[in-house]
Amino acid sequence: MAVVFVVDDDPVTCEAVARTLQRDGHDLTTFTHPEQALDAGRVNPPAVVITDFAMPGLNGLEFLLELRRYSPATTFIVVSGQATVEDAVSLMKHGVVDVQVKPPRARSLRKAVTLALKQHELAAENLRLRQDLRGLRGVSRVVGASRPFSATMRMVEKVAGNPSTVLITGETGTGKEVIAESIHELSPRADHRLVKVHCAAIPETLLESELFGHIRGSFTGAIRDKVGLFEEAHQGSIFLDEIGEITPNVQAKLLRVLQTGEVQRVGDTKTRKVDTRVMAATHRDLQKAVAEGEFREDLFYRLNVIPIHVPPLRERGDDVLLLARRFLAVEWERSDRGGEPMSFSAEAEKVLLGYSWPGNVREVQNIVTRLVALCDRSVIGVDDLPDSVRSGKGVPASKIDALKELSLEQAERLLILNAISRNQGNKKQAARQLGIGLATLYRKLQSYEADTGEA
Ligand SMILES: Nc1ncnc2c1ncn2[C@@H]1O[C@H](COP(=O)(O)OP(=O)(O)OP(=O)(O)O)[C@@H](O)[C@H]1O
Ligand SMILES: [Mg+2]
Repeated sequence: MAVVFVVDDDPVTCEAVARTLQRDGHDLTTFTHPEQALDAGRVNPPAVVITDFAMPGLNGLEFLLELRRYSPATTFIVVSGQATVEDAVSLMKHGVVDVQVKPPRARSLRKAVTLALKQHELAAENLRLRQDLRGLRGVSRVVGASRPFSATMRMVEKVAGNPSTVLITGETGTGKEVIAESIHELSPRADHRLVKVHCAAIPETLLESELFGHIRGSFTGAIRDKVGLFEEAHQGSIFLDEIGEITPNVQAKLLRVLQTGEVQRVGDTKTRKVDTRVMAATHRDLQKAVAEGEFREDLFYRLNVIPIHVPPLRERGDDVLLLARRFLAVEWERSDRGGEPMSFSAEAEKVLLGYSWPGNVREVQNIVTRLVALCDRSVIGVDDLPDSVRSGKGVPASKIDALKELSLEQAERLLILNAISRNQGNKKQAARQLGIGLATLYRKLQSYEADTGEA
């Protein structure tokens, strides 16, 4: 049964409207004060509200706006003796289904309610879809099926439910922030904020007051009280990125917060309780930093309660293809190229697999973005890939295996360029490793340059 509220400061009208709708089988409640309806709606959000316009306290529009704050799919019908044409227009703009003149005629009122119920269904469905979409942007947007990455994601699911501190490590661009977002979204705190702090980007003098807040006059420039990011993350999570870069002073303050669960604003004497799930990330080897005396050991252990390592892309097998295809689909959709959706040729995918991706996922994303902008063809071939990728700079031996399905010429080219880069440009050494003469190597290189020149 659809929940329907009837709101009018005149009890006689309230009753009349309720009587009209009684036999249509709604769950009807009448209110003579809009505030009462707001309270009731918090517990039991109505599908449809039929309300007077001019009421003491809140007028119909104010009432609507207030109720929609927690029940965005509720639809409204306004019944008014006094609403002007302007009022009616503004009500319609706010999605009021119908404006009826007092006293409302039974038939037209019932018709309006039927319409309003239909609209409510649509609005509720819309809201659901949008929430699903938000989900899509979150965890299910994370791409990766390889064994090492799946292990990381299993860890994410396992730790999301408890409030322990997480330390996320991994090379640049591996997805540390994505992992933190996933943990937050899967946690019971998902309805609250995830506050992100890029510790390395904030000057040390500011970082303390950013994190913990300050009170007015505590230092020059502190013209008003400031709530710190820890307090903003109350009931939610805070992500401290590049934690390896914070100074000993901030390290000490952070340690206290983790130990006590309380923050002290700069210049304040009192402390405040905060309930925040702390996640930190670094590309540095913190244990080494501890050994070298650059990072407090006690803080390290406080942070490292649950360590999560994000493996580099070169250890994630075919994930690079899944990522590249996903990014290509997304970027193509975003561009207005039109025509055929873009794809990679089989040979190009082999090359992507063979490359070592020192910039990890971010590097894949950047390269794909550039390809969508610059490549004219809808099927991306080997020649469209950037030189760095094609030359397979830094390909580890294990990955050479991936070359076996390339044409002989392509494989040869990758092997040669890779050998040269592995030997830091020393061609004599590269030639020796490849078992060919130096002159042959030069000849091959010249032919590649000629190729590139044509392209
Ligand atoms: N598994 C994944 N699936 C989809 N997109 C990903 C994945 N991992 C990372 N990305 C995307 O790659 C980019 C880099 O990821 P992110 O910023 O999380 O890396 P990071 O490890 O924090 O990098 P840095 O060390 O440079 O801070 C982002 O745009 C992110 O959306
Ligand atoms: Mg990051």
